[in-house]
Amino acid sequence: MRFSILFAMASALLAQAPGSAPKAGAAPSGNAQNGKKLFVRDGCYQCHGLQGQGGAAGPRIGPRPIAFAAFTMYVRQPSGQMPPYTSKVVSDQELADIHAFLASLPQPPPVKSIPALNQ
Ligand code: HEC
Repeated sequence: MRFSILFAMASALLAQAPGSAPKAGAAPSGNAQNGKKLFVRDGCYQCHGLQGQGGAAGPRIGPRPIAFAAFTMYVRQPSGQMPPYTSKVVSDQELADIHAFLASLPQPPPVKSIPALNQ
């Protein structure tokens, strides 16, 4: 159900007040380099694009991925078109690595810095 993921995302956002570091122990620390490999091995890139930028089959999920708790919840029990990934297929540590990879992606330049978008 769409509401459940929205609720999970909202509570994850509330749990992470702006400017504050994520709560210690909330997520295993991820290895972005390994996450990059897993993103390809597990086929995430096929729908979300190699940089998580989104594509025809899936939305943008980087460079600012949703909070780890909501991220894991969605991958385990998606509510829409996405196939579920159980912990047998992708472990929690591997998801932490993928999350770290998405979080490590460079931010897009600010719209103000793009002349064509400021005419
Ligand atoms: C077959 C295509 C497909 C594959 C493969 C896939 N996804 Fe998705 N994903 C989607 C679609 C489509 C959505 C949008 C919601 C929906 O319809 O389920 C989505 C949504 C998500 C969301 C929620 C985004 C949000 O802001 O609500 C996350 C997180 C996510 N995917 C992560 C992953 C990860 C990590 C992998 C690899 C382990 C992966 N996806 C593999 C299609 C895919």
